[in-house]
Parts: sequence; C-alpha cells; structure tokens
Amino acid sequence: MPPTLLLSRHLPDEAVALARQHVAVRMAPEDRRLSPAELGRQLQDADGLVCLLTDTVDAALLERATRLRVVANVAVGYNNIDVAAASRRKIVVTNTPGVLTETTADFTWALLLAVARRVVEADAYTRAGQYKEWGLQLLLGGDVFGRTLGILGLGRIGKAVARRARGFSMRMLYDDAVRDPAAEQELGVVYQPKKTILAEADFLTVHVPLLPETHHYIGEPELRRMKPTAYLVNASRGPVVDEAALARALREGWIAGAGLDVYEDEPRVHPGLLETRKAVLAPHIGSASIETRHLMARMAVENALAVLAGRRPPNPVNPEVLGS
Ligand code: DGY
Repeated sequence: MPPTLLLSRHLPDEAVALARQHVAVRMAPEDRRLSPAELGRQLQDADGLVCLLTDTVDAALLERATRLRVVANVAVGYNNIDVAAASRRKIVVTNTPGVLTETTADFTWALLLAVARRVVEADAYTRAGQYKEWGLQLLLGGDVFGRTLGILGLGRIGKAVARRARGFSMRMLYDDAVRDPAAEQELGVVYQPKKTILAEADFLTVHVPLLPETHHYIGEPELRRMKPTAYLVNASRGPVVDEAALARALREGWIAGAGLDVYEDEPRVHPGLLETRKAVLAPHIGSASIETRHLMARMAVENALAVLAGRRPPNPVNPEVLGS
C-alpha cells in the first residue's frame, strides 16, 4: 500500500499530479478550510500532510494522527504548527523558504509606494469621477527617493527589500538578532539598534518571524518613537504589530501611514484600520504571484514525498528529528 498524503486544500494541478505519481493523495472534493475536527478525522490514518498557514496543527491534532510522519507547510512561516509537539512525536515539519523571497519583497515595495503616494486613494478618487482638474495640493504624499529605510529583520526578504531600495538611493538602517557584515558590505545597510532606527526611519519595514519574543514587536512605545512623517510596512506576520496601538497611531498622527498585508487575527482586520485612509490593506498576498504560488506548492509536495520515501526533505524546520 502506498502512503497516504492528505492535502488540506486544493493545490495547483501540477503539484497534485506530482504527488499522485508517488503516493495515495487524499483531497476533499471541495476546496474549503477543514474544521479542526475534520482535519483530525482525515489525519487519523494519513502518513503525511500538506497544509496551509490557515490550518492550525497543534499538539492535540498531532496526538490523534498516529501514523503521521511529515507536515509540509505551503509557506515559509510556520507559526501555525506546533513544531515542538511535532518533534516530540518524531514528525518532520517542512516549509518553503527561498522561492517566495523576491515576490514578497516586490509586494513589500508595492505597499510602501502605495501608502506613501496614496495610490489606493487616488484610484478611488479617479473612479468616483472626482478628478475635475489638476491640483497643486491634490493627494500629496511622502517622497521615497533618498529617504531613510529602516529594516527590522535582515533575513532573505529583508535583504531583497534592501536590494530594491538601492534603486531609490535610500539610506538603509537595519537591526537583527545577528549582525551581518557581509550584507553590510554588499548592500550598504548600516547596523543600528532598533531604538535608533525607529527614530530615524522615514519608512520602517518589518521582516521578523513570529516568535514569542516578536509578539507586538511594534507596539505603542515603538510607534511613539517614530517620526510623524514616517510610514510602517508589515508583510511578515500580523501579531508582530499591535494593531490597536497602530490604529491609534494613525488616528492621532503619531505616524503618517501604514501598508499592511497581515493582521493579528486573520482574516479579521482591526476596525480602526478599516476606517482610516492612512492604511493600505491587503489580504495576505505578499507571495501571491502565479509562478511563486506554484513553486511553493511544488516544494511542499517534494518535501512531503521525500519524507514518505525515507529520504531527507530539502527544507526541514526541525532537522533534529531526522537523525544524522
Ligand atoms: C509565508 O510563506 O509565510 C507567507 O506568509 C505566505 O506566503
């Protein structure tokens, strides 16, 4: 009997076909989110799971999945999975690093430019037939070229954002848990403590993973340190920013605007963010290019297939369970 691989959601055809060449694929006829109870039932006799960041894979679920050997997330972030619980059960967890870096950096820039130059407001204004004549003071925004970009988290995506910023002749400051002299040399980014970056950045972009220590990494004290003309961009994980504090910061003018792709309790968006035009809001589409989403799905399937075939997967996040 071939191993059974559960796909929690429909994947692009090519990724499903690849899986079908090697294992028995289980996939619901309808593409909708499975409730925890449904997911638990489907996993009871499955050997592998390919899931999305909207699936919560917690200790209780893993406990019921007695045959499970691999959880392959179709995302680079994996805060939806209790990795420690998986490791205790010798279940391999994998993610999809690398393939979405450039696409997510592009989208970070889309948000940055959109919020600074009020693209969304301008579009709404034009469609509403309000454009009657050119105006010297119409929809004025903030300049990007030559300004200071603060990057919190200089991992793959943070670096890809910095690479683009060079084209805008920006001064770049970064903070990260580990200083990166090679990146400083290559990209011209300057290491500074977070406190300094908050005070000096005209644009602050956050690229840290969601960990207990990065929960509300940008909260009221941080927002109050920023310039009233500064913009915040977050395409990492929602809970990294305290949304209530951000809504207040925008309402009271502590900062000029925010471009957000992620939220604390997705798909819910804080009402204070929905009501302000100073925020450009996207539905977590940072990696959503056709090519990248296909690559992510394929990568997740390859990770799952490798484990089910007794091979080392390309992208384990808990390699300690694999042994040497
Ligand atoms: C990820 O991969 O973690 C993104 O949030 C979705 O692409």
